[in-house]
Amino acid sequence: MAALFVTGAGTDIGKTHVACALITALRARGMAVDAFKPVLSGFDPNDLASSDAGRLAAALGRPEAWAAIAPRRFRAPLSPPTAAALEGETLALDDLVADGRARMGAADGLLLIEGAGGVMSPLTETATNLDLMAALRAPVLLVVGSYLGALSHALTALVALRARGLTVAAVVMSESQNAPDLDQTGASLKAFETEAPVFLAPRGAAWTADALADLILA
Ligand SMILES: Nc1ncnc2c1ncn2[C@@H]1O[C@H](COP(=O)(O)OP(=O)(O)OP(=O)(O)O)[C@@H](O)[C@H]1O
Ligand SMILES: [Mg+2]
Repeated sequence: MAALFVTGAGTDIGKTHVACALITALRARGMAVDAFKPVLSGFDPNDLASSDAGRLAAALGRPEAWAAIAPRRFRAPLSPPTAAALEGETLALDDLVADGRARMGAADGLLLIEGAGGVMSPLTETATNLDLMAALRAPVLLVVGSYLGALSHALTALVALRARGLTVAAVVMSESQNAPDLDQTGASLKAFETEAPVFLAPRGAAWTADALADLILA
């Protein structure tokens, strides 16, 4: 596997959390890893450490790499096309596809590509993350929550991904705050999703992504 596209059933669901844990686990096994965030909105240069770019760079052990990881950055905490428009820019799918292909071609080891928001969150005024994923054709890691209602969002996301012919390498249920029991919700997802492996990422106890790293290295 040369690249893995990390997407979510929604925004703020744990994509960066899961990607960073996976980077750490893969690096511990000696694997070369890189990261790419095609578009980053809500970027505050005064709070680099908590931005996706800063967190991914830190996990890679290359804190200086943040700008290269996320070359298209916008200040407003809004959808990428809206945030870009506020800075007089228009995002085009062709450019994002070209960026992604170039990164995939140049990557040494596994490239983790983190989308913006959820599977069908807009990336441009007329294209969603799903359009970028369909063009890049990398296997997908879907991150879902465990809140009440998360199952419907997870299963809907899986149908949408597969309708475009994408391979779902794995699903990670990242525990939501104030959510029902994670094991029970995870078991319920596993009963519906029998194709891709489902991993649970609990809050509190540090989640190591070891089993996910083993799957990727297998
Ligand atoms: N399993 C978890 N354990 C502990 N904290 C978590 C977990 N999942 C998510 N979080 C926390 O929840 C917040 C949102 O997660 P994260 O930033 O990874 O989401 P995201 O999907 O990458 O968001 P965005 O759509 O902005 O890229 C972060 O503060 C993150 O550290
Ligand atoms: Mg993120």
